[in-house]
This record gives sequence, C-alpha cells and structure tokens, in this order.
Amino acid sequence: MSVKKLGISPNGIETYELQNGKGVRVQVITYGARLTKILLPMAKGVIDVLAGFDDADGYLGENPYFNAVIGRVANRIGGARFTLNGKTYRLNKNDGENCLHGGTVGFDRKIFSCEISGESAVKMTYVSPDGEENFPGNLTLSVTYVLTEENGVSLRYEAFCDEDTVFSPTNHAYFSLDGDFSSVRDTEVFIDSTLMTEVDGNLIPTGNISDVSGTGFDFSERKKIGDGIDETNELFKIARNGYDFNYILRKDRDISSPAATAYSSKSGIKMTVYTDRPCMQLYTGNFLDGTIVGKTAFRYQSAFCMETQGYPNACNVPSFPSMTLKKGEKFFSETTYRFEW
Ligand code: GLA
Repeated sequence: MSVKKLGISPNGIETYELQNGKGVRVQVITYGARLTKILLPMAKGVIDVLAGFDDADGYLGENPYFNAVIGRVANRIGGARFTLNGKTYRLNKNDGENCLHGGTVGFDRKIFSCEISGESAVKMTYVSPDGEENFPGNLTLSVTYVLTEENGVSLRYEAFCDEDTVFSPTNHAYFSLDGDFSSVRDTEVFIDSTLMTEVDGNLIPTGNISDVSGTGFDFSERKKIGDGIDETNELFKIARNGYDFNYILRKDRDISSPAATAYSSKSGIKMTVYTDRPCMQLYTGNFLDGTIVGKTAFRYQSAFCMETQGYPNACNVPSFPSMTLKKGEKFFSETTYRFEW
C-alpha cells in the first residue's frame, strides 16, 4: 500500500497515486477531484479502464464530466429551479431549460485541496460558497478516495452546510472494461433493480416510477448492454439509442451486496459497484461522438457510467426521498468500484 504525490501540472493541478500490494494503481487529480487512471496489472499488460486524458491539464478543456465529482446536485433539476423553506432558487440553465450536474461551473470544474490520509487514501476537499450557482449556504465537501487490497476504489463523501441546502453528489467515471474504448454494447451488465424513475422527453424525472421487469431496460439478470436496446422504442430514442436512465436499487439491499456489476468477456475484467445510495444512473456514452480526443478518441457509446446517486430531481418531486441537507447535519455516503479479472 502506498500513496504519493506524482506532481503538479503547469496549471497547478496536483496528481496523486494510490497503489496496493496487487499492483493496482489509481490516479486522482485536484481538478474536480477526478479519477484519471485505474490501472489494472493484467497478464498481457496494464489496462487503464477509465476514459480521460493523458495529462491533468487535459481535463481543463471541453469534456463531458470525465470521472469528476458532481455537485451540488447530480443529474437534472427540471426547470432549473427548486423551492426550499418557501424560497425559490433559480439555477443556471445548462441543459435546455434545466440544470445539469451542478450548473454552469459545477464541482467538476473546481480545484479541491488534497491531503494524503493514511497508507492508501487521499482526501479531497472543496468549500462551495453561499450562493455559488445560486445554491444556498456554505457547503464543505470532502471526498476520500481509498484503494483497498481487494482492488476496490472507494469514494467516501462527507459534507455539511451552514444553512439548509440541497445536495446530491455523484462521480461521473467513464469505464471501458474492454480497455480499448471500442463499444460498450458487448459489456454484460447486472443492476439490482427492476424500477426506473420515468423521464419526460428531456430526460427530466416526472415523479412516476416504472416497473421495467422483463423489458429492454431490465438488467436484474445479467445481459449485454446492446441486447436490451430497442431502437423503435420512444424512451431509447430520447436517450439516443442507449441508456441514460436512473434505476432505483432494491430497497432491502445493504452496502455489502452488489448494486451493479459490469463484465467484459474480451478482457475478463469484472467491475462490481457497492453503494449506500438509493439509485444509480446507467449512462452508455450516448453523447460521445469522437470529437473529444484524449487517451483515445471517445466515440459514441465507447464508455459507460454507473453513477450512484439520490433520486434525481427530488427537489421538485415531493414523493421522492428528499435531497435536502439540513443546516449542521452531516452527510455521509460511500460507493466502491471493485475490480476482478
Ligand atoms: C449524465 C447525463 C447524460 C449526459 C452526461 C454527460 O450522465 O445523464 O445525459 O449529460 O451526463 O454528457
């Protein structure tokens, strides 16, 4: 187990590397508290399963939230507004009429401070000032990245605010378990859920919950991503013939039972997601179009995300579990991505 600072980029972004006794290495940077590399020592050579850029400064350019911490609120807030304690907050619209992933300048574009914490962890902290992106209260967020001897990459979120606010983070890691960013359609996925939050034509959760058992959206039995997609189905069309949907994870599940798995028969790499969050977004890179070139050119559906999260748009849907973080209350959440091969 070791952790070290690898360096600082010309633009002041620090890179840290965690390593375990199995030779797995994980790199994180202070810009957006992003994961930048998860390097698995396979028999045929090292495979990096994360999308992104070769250098830390690459993330400063345009990219779709590559592997970043998302806040204050992941996913879409319908109408870019919400009401809390009788006051309406208007947010920046950065997705049509809606607010996506924290607004115009979300946490993915903030510099976090970093401290090495123990033998195999780094703690990234950001203080979001009152009124930033029009969200209320001074919010302090720490995300601790831990690499375990079982090849788990854990993300521990801790937050508190000096006023009531809304808070619902995620990490937007993009994976290719094939390791070559060709197509995720052959990746085999399991999600411990048969329920999706219904969305409208702009991917805004309406508040309805759909039982998707037995449909193309159902991953409660492992299947290839490509096998469920029905290009004649309206919902798939909305998501550009892929998945961009939120699953409500089975409720009597605990953090030690997999929320989801993904497996590539090409590489033999399996990823298991553990989380205490109630939901997970499966996103299959439907907006990638090859224009962003980093470690490679990221083409349509060349990487997928499993974003653990609270109920999306809960600040506008009273029947969803609340995303309000009360003044002084401690938020804690943990998600682990574990790799086997
Ligand atoms: C999330 C959203 C997608 C897309 C990506 C970023 O996963 O749900 O619709 O916006 O982020 O491109």
